Amino acid sequence: MVKSPMKKDAYLEHWNNRKEQYKRVQRDPLRLKYHLQPPMGWLNDPNGLCQKDGIYHIYFQYCPFYPEIRSIFWGHMTTKDFIHYEEQEPAVYSDSKWDCNGPYSGCAFQEEDTLYFFYTGNVRYEDGNYNYVTDGREQNTILVTSKDGFTFSEKRLLMKNEDYPSDMSKHVRDPKVFWEHGHYFMIQGARSRKDEGSVLLFESYNLTDWTYKLRFQPKTSFGYMWECPNYLKIGEKKFLIVCPQGVAADEYEYANKYQCGWFLLDYDFEGTDYTLGEFHQLDRGFDFYAPQVFQDETGRWILMGWMSVPDSGYEEPTLAQGWVHALTIPRELYVNDVGLLCQRPLKELKGLRQEGYRGSLQTGLDLGTSACSEVIVTFNKRSEDFQMYLRESVRLKYEDGVLLLDVRGCGSGRTTRGLKVAELHKLQIFSDSSSLEIFINDGEDVFTTRIYDSMRELHIQVEGKELDGEWEYYPY
Ligand code: FRU
Repeated sequence: MVKSPMKKDAYLEHWNNRKEQYKRVQRDPLRLKYHLQPPMGWLNDPNGLCQKDGIYHIYFQYCPFYPEIRSIFWGHMTTKDFIHYEEQEPAVYSDSKWDCNGPYSGCAFQEEDTLYFFYTGNVRYEDGNYNYVTDGREQNTILVTSKDGFTFSEKRLLMKNEDYPSDMSKHVRDPKVFWEHGHYFMIQGARSRKDEGSVLLFESYNLTDWTYKLRFQPKTSFGYMWECPNYLKIGEKKFLIVCPQGVAADEYEYANKYQCGWFLLDYDFEGTDYTLGEFHQLDRGFDFYAPQVFQDETGRWILMGWMSVPDSGYEEPTLAQGWVHALTIPRELYVNDVGLLCQRPLKELKGLRQEGYRGSLQTGLDLGTSACSEVIVTFNKRSEDFQMYLRESVRLKYEDGVLLLDVRGCGSGRTTRGLKVAELHKLQIFSDSSSLEIFINDGEDVFTTRIYDSMRELHIQVEGKELDGEWEYYPY
């Protein structure tokens, strides 16, 4: 026995009964000004990111009637500039026996004029005493296609748990499809029965028949489950992005409940030999998980992540207003001169800037700015200790080669996060009503976090001994 699916007409009825909630959500002062956020209810992972005929399609895990009804859909928004987002009807409903507990995360793969969406159909049995790890659950790989990103074909079941390697638990999900070495590949996040996380690699010559090829896994086990894998190639460098669960914290490393980061991958997509480099965290803040990457029509690799981490247990004050969570700003991925995968804010965001100001960095600087703004601080003399207050209750401190973010004053349970930075030369800070994204040294690292203060101002105060540098400020 499984939960009954929710079809489109039932969805629309629930939606129409919640028009008041929808209006209340839009009035919440914690609503973000330039981030993608749910029209109401709950949002998690970005899905199916793609650009078709000039329009960017951003689908996402969406539970608009949360917490009363916990059905997941693929929500849908479009944008042409990453500044204005348009709400669209959900793209995928939980309306079949293969995905009655939710169309879980997945990707878009584009070929000629067709978009192929691959996702995980989640099914939870309700008629027994299950542990839901090795039994009681189905994770089906499903395909839907579309010519325009707005209307979708029938669902087609491609793989089920029996088609995954036999030592896997029931947790195999989040397909990402790409073209390499003359044919198609699919990666999926996985948990084995021995609680080892890995990425499973499948191959295909027609996008519908898939054969298991191998698994990517480091020599020593690194967490019990890996979610939301991504693969990308920049120049000759290949990267695997994954979200491992069950990695123990180690001083400043792996401080969140679940992690997200990248490995350099050395693999020719032919034989079975590969090597994975070291794991690098993609973000150092409290709220970053399940990012998805895609290449747009200009060939840029764009990343958007979920601005939260599952099971982290923070209070989310927006819930009382009828909504929760958001996606990060879009970021362009690039490889820097020492071979690190870095993130820089998409250049389109410059379109948000109003007339700016600039000045030189001095101790005692006190800059009263708008909460929705961008601030760039450039240090001429690298590695000078300093501290900066952002919005009074957020402190960023650099001391003895450690950059420390302290949001105890407004983090709703979030405390401090640190990072070793041998040489600090640049900070680029994106502040929105209830979020902060701090890009360090041109995006070698990022701190992404939600904050909930009543201050509607970003109030920057800088203190340090021999500060030498510049600041730029742009209200949004
Ligand atoms: C990651 C995740 C995915 C899954 C989805 C369900 O946040 O757990 O693995 O597909 O969320 O909403």
